[in-house]
Amino acid sequence: MCSIIGYRGGRKAVRVLINGLRNMEYRGYDSVGVATMDGAKIQVRKRVGRVDDVSKAMGLDELGGTSGVGHTRWATQGAPTDRNAHPHVSSGGRVAIVHNGTIENFAELRTSLESQGFSFKSETDSEVIANLLESELDGGDGVRGAVLRTIAKIRGHYTFAAIFNDGSMAATRRRESLIVGVGDGEYYVSSDVHGFVEYANDVIYVNDGDVVVIDDDGLGIYDGDGRRVTTELTKVSRELATIYKEDYAHHTLKEISEQPDVIGAAGADESAVSAVARSLRDAGTVYIVGSGTSYNAALAAKHLLLEYASIRAEAIVASEIPVHARSLERGGIMLAISQSGESADVLEAAGIARNAGIDVISIVNHPNSALARESTDVIRINCGPEIGVAATKSFLSQLVVLYKIVGELGGPGIDQEVISQAISGALESGPHVKEIARRLRDVNDVYVLGRGIHYAIALEAALKLKELTYIHAEAMPGGELKHGPLALLDEDTNVIIINPPGTTHDDALADAAKIRARGAHVIGIDTADSDAYDDWIPIPESDEAAHTIAEIVPIQLLAYYTALERDTNPDRPRNLAKSVTVR
Ligand code: AGP
Repeated sequence: MCSIIGYRGGRKAVRVLINGLRNMEYRGYDSVGVATMDGAKIQVRKRVGRVDDVSKAMGLDELGGTSGVGHTRWATQGAPTDRNAHPHVSSGGRVAIVHNGTIENFAELRTSLESQGFSFKSETDSEVIANLLESELDGGDGVRGAVLRTIAKIRGHYTFAAIFNDGSMAATRRRESLIVGVGDGEYYVSSDVHGFVEYANDVIYVNDGDVVVIDDDGLGIYDGDGRRVTTELTKVSRELATIYKEDYAHHTLKEISEQPDVIGAAGADESAVSAVARSLRDAGTVYIVGSGTSYNAALAAKHLLLEYASIRAEAIVASEIPVHARSLERGGIMLAISQSGESADVLEAAGIARNAGIDVISIVNHPNSALARESTDVIRINCGPEIGVAATKSFLSQLVVLYKIVGELGGPGIDQEVISQAISGALESGPHVKEIARRLRDVNDVYVLGRGIHYAIALEAALKLKELTYIHAEAMPGGELKHGPLALLDEDTNVIIINPPGTTHDDALADAAKIRARGAHVIGIDTADSDAYDDWIPIPESDEAAHTIAEIVPIQLLAYYTALERDTNPDRPRNLAKSVTVR
């Protein structure tokens, strides 16, 4: 996904834009660009790189004007190059646009526009929006009419914002986020509230298909037929102040460190948790979906429902749901897990479920996200903004919610204080983990083993290592090692074994012995040390739920510190974006 910001008011626009882009850079960071109305002309500066670097190198602060748009890009159509960076300006220079999402029919639109004399400078799908807007500008109904006719021609998922050389600004959305910030005589349009939270507390969540126009008459929002719509102002939550990383070197470290505190708010609405538990108990079939980390939480949910509530659920990677569409059973429940509530794969899975007569229940962090809005019931994980691209605190909060749900269905009741203590205890492994990270600096392969629900945690551990360190990391159920993967082990391989107390503990120690016999290095995550481990990362003794929730923490730290050793940016891993809003 990309980040979009637009501003019209009395301030120097470029400063507002750069600040907003810096706060939203986690959404995409291949390139940066701004366009402002400076005098009677639209001025554009853009380049590949990070916000602060591009800003300095291109002297963005020199741009004048009190209105403009800005963008950071996560490349989808067209490589991450200077030419493909946004904003894109129409052939005649009357419009500059920034875009997030995908225009599915861009190729045919481009051919048609070229035949009308419009030219293109980039390989992006986005540039057609600029030229389409310009081609529609002279319809006699101003910017609003031009945007309405443009969106009638484009297909796909998108948000775009545009400035026009008459000084007006417009924005619209279809299945991508768009928020308007309302200040004192000034307006912001943004992909998320982080874009302007320092300047405006009142926001409007724009409905799909509505068109925002900001001009000398102020703000107007119109529906697809051009009729003015009435909108509600929502106060921005104060928790957003926590996007700043305070004294931490990285957001990722801050977010790992604050886990003992944030989990207390997960699933705080007990009636929502009870309602969801009842729905799952009474459902014919339960499908649990998510992507990436949220899928790993889905897999944990499957184990918990089976073990504690005898509910047989299927955990399915969200992007696989279209493949299973025909076999989904009417009357079932889909439990959709998503931090952002904006992942395109999850939204598509939810749409398919609804069409099949399946109610969608969601576990989300963002209460105003598309997924939350489209769900029958919602449980919030309430972990505050997660800025690091790698999910950390959202995963623990998802697990807490899942334990709360099964607690309603006969599972172990959880004690949040005990969980917080277990996480704090796990965080104490930091200095030892740093030493292990030094050793991992030059390794190529790491395997992570776990059995039962701990296999879901192992998957999450491997995902964290891949994302943050770029080391090949693979998770497998402990018992699978001997069925093939053992062939890969040699003295350069590291194997992390997640080994909680209980029925699988001895089996895992036996796995460790097999691994060490092949010369590989074993890192045990356990409440007690063992001769079977080369390295031991302690997890404090606790109850079962707290242990399961806390055992990912040292691996989050290991991934973080190994990233530093390997000189990669843990907050912004290459090629990734915080929410993947394209399919
Ligand atoms: C996790 O570290 C990743 N950044 C990614 O796998 C993420 O969990 C996935 O894209 C799903 O996002 P969501 O929870 O916002 O839907």
